[in-house]
Amino acid sequence: MRLILLGPPGSGKGTQAQRLVQRYGIVQLSTGEMLRAAVAAETPVGLKAKDLMANGQLVPDDIVVGIISDRIDQPDAVKGFVLDGFPRTVPQAEALDELLKRKHLKLDAVVELRVNESALLQRVETRVAEMRARGEEVRVDDTPEVLTKRLAAYRSQTEPLIHYYSERRKLATVDGMMTIEQVTREVNRILAAVGALEPQAAPAR
Ligand code: AP5
Repeated sequence: MRLILLGPPGSGKGTQAQRLVQRYGIVQLSTGEMLRAAVAAETPVGLKAKDLMANGQLVPDDIVVGIISDRIDQPDAVKGFVLDGFPRTVPQAEALDELLKRKHLKLDAVVELRVNESALLQRVETRVAEMRARGEEVRVDDTPEVLTKRLAAYRSQTEPLIHYYSERRKLATVDGMMTIEQVTREVNRILAAVGALEPQAAPAR
């Protein structure tokens, strides 16, 4: 199973990706998580990404494409993967197409999670409050000011992917305003409809 979760900040990509990992044993490839780890470890990639991320801007395409192409080559990605936060620009989507083509792999679906802007702001605010209550370190880009910039980056650079994947007949849109459980059910229904789920064993006679 290979799918992309597409959606603005706070739309539930990470939440749904984790549920897919638990249910199907595939891996979650989150460029945001990978970049945050690189920033924390102060690697050369992390040093380049740090200020851009803190300002709600996208990291250059060549950097994220490099990260993803290395990660897809790891043995644990063979069974399948859910891309969470990648691709985010048309050049990234084109690079992914090339990468999959070279490996003779097929993308099963692109699931767009659609959530209205006031709900996104509310969700991120709740996430910050919950993390603070647990004593966890809050993301530097989860402030209202930076979130506004992340949303603007989504609208201008990532939303064109909706058309890109719709043209290629890969896109399915889910109402991300539903509960987490309802969204999961809808994602599973889409995966079944595109034939991405393993066929069930025939019942014993
Ligand atoms: P990234 O880490 O990808 O962040 P994001 O896309 O802004 O998304 P979030 O992690 O904030 O939200 P999410 O959609 O995963 O929602 P979640 O499940 O957490 O990117 C961060 C930065 O890294 C970027 O700004 C950029 O700088 C850089 N970057 C990353 N990838 C890049 C790329 N490919 N190219 C260039 N730069 C890149 O849910 C949010 C909250 O809502 C949670 O508290 C959750 O519990 C709750 N929630 C979820 N679903 C529901 C629901 N249905 N109902 C109610 N609450 C819900």
